Amino acid sequence: MPSKTAARSAPAEPAAEEKPEIALEDLPGIGQTTADKLRESGYTDLMELAVASPGDVAEAAEIGVAIAQKIIGEARRKADVGGFESGTQLLERRKKLGRITTSTKALDELLGGGVETQAITEFSGEFGTGKTQIAHQIAVDVQLPAAQGGLGGDVVYIDTESTFRPERIVDMAKGAGLDPAATLERIHVARAFNSNHQMLLVAKAQELARERPIRLLVVDSLTAHFRSEYMGRGELAPRQQHLNRHLHELLRFADTYNASIVVTNQVSARPDILFGDPTRPIGGNIVAHAATYRVYLRKSKPPRRIARLIDSPNLPEGEAVFSLTTEGIRD
Ligand code: GTP
Ligand code: MG
Repeated sequence: MPSKTAARSAPAEPAAEEKPEIALEDLPGIGQTTADKLRESGYTDLMELAVASPGDVAEAAEIGVAIAQKIIGEARRKADVGGFESGTQLLERRKKLGRITTSTKALDELLGGGVETQAITEFSGEFGTGKTQIAHQIAVDVQLPAAQGGLGGDVVYIDTESTFRPERIVDMAKGAGLDPAATLERIHVARAFNSNHQMLLVAKAQELARERPIRLLVVDSLTAHFRSEYMGRGELAPRQQHLNRHLHELLRFADTYNASIVVTNQVSARPDILFGDPTRPIGGNIVAHAATYRVYLRKSKPPRRIARLIDSPNLPEGEAVFSLTTEGIRD
């Protein structure tokens, strides 16, 4: 069964080192200041510019629309737009799909064998449902050798709420039979101060991924900054656009480095619902479309939590029960 990943039409990139780097400054009409402004707004490479709208670029760089149009045209000529990938190539790429255990059999099974690479997996739920704990756990487990359910990889951890706790990693590493100091060493943590910074950190992660075998990128939380920066109703469209670009960059990272992307997401109240769960993950259809696996968490009898797989393209809906323990998450 094809998953959303396979159906996505975004071109796969060749191995990172084959790609000649063209800086934004190399485009005619872009000076240092304009390039910096663009990067601050999340346009970190030519591809981003190539697919942008002139109005957005003009606003981001504080230039005229005509100039923006010219810049976009140049970016389109120079960008490695790629385009098509043969079915054979796609199949080869999908054969390399890896999976990371979550240290719980139930949750692994729910996800079809663990957290998949070349995909975004979202964990959503109310406060205290265990989103951050799961993110910590997977950051430890990805470092395990393949025989134990890991990928022997490093982690980029983008922390937007200052809830990354090295002490928890130490506990969980011990629980997983890993050396705690070595485990911490392989988790590259950055605190994101706002949504633009958060997006910039994904570009930084690409640089890091050329030196280190990054197999997992965590964003905890994906939506918190976006939500607080775009408060009003009228700001929903720009927020969604911005978030969409961020998700697109995350997907590209996942494809390029055969990495898993794990994001957490809060929920908001849905006033329109009278029956059933009155909450839903933030980010609406934008996140729904980009995330291949969406897991919704809720509390049960402590320390238990219930995970439910929502709208998965190729897996049956179902639920898994797990517990939050000192050594990590467990069945
Ligand atoms: P928000 O980020 O606030 O939306 O919540 P979250 O979903 O990220 O929750 P988080 O993962 O932080 O879960 C918090 C819960 O994890 C706590 O209520 C505890 O039940 C559990 N927990 C956190 N640390 C420990 C620990 O050291 N030992 C044990 N046994 N449980 C812990
Ligand atoms: Mg959290």
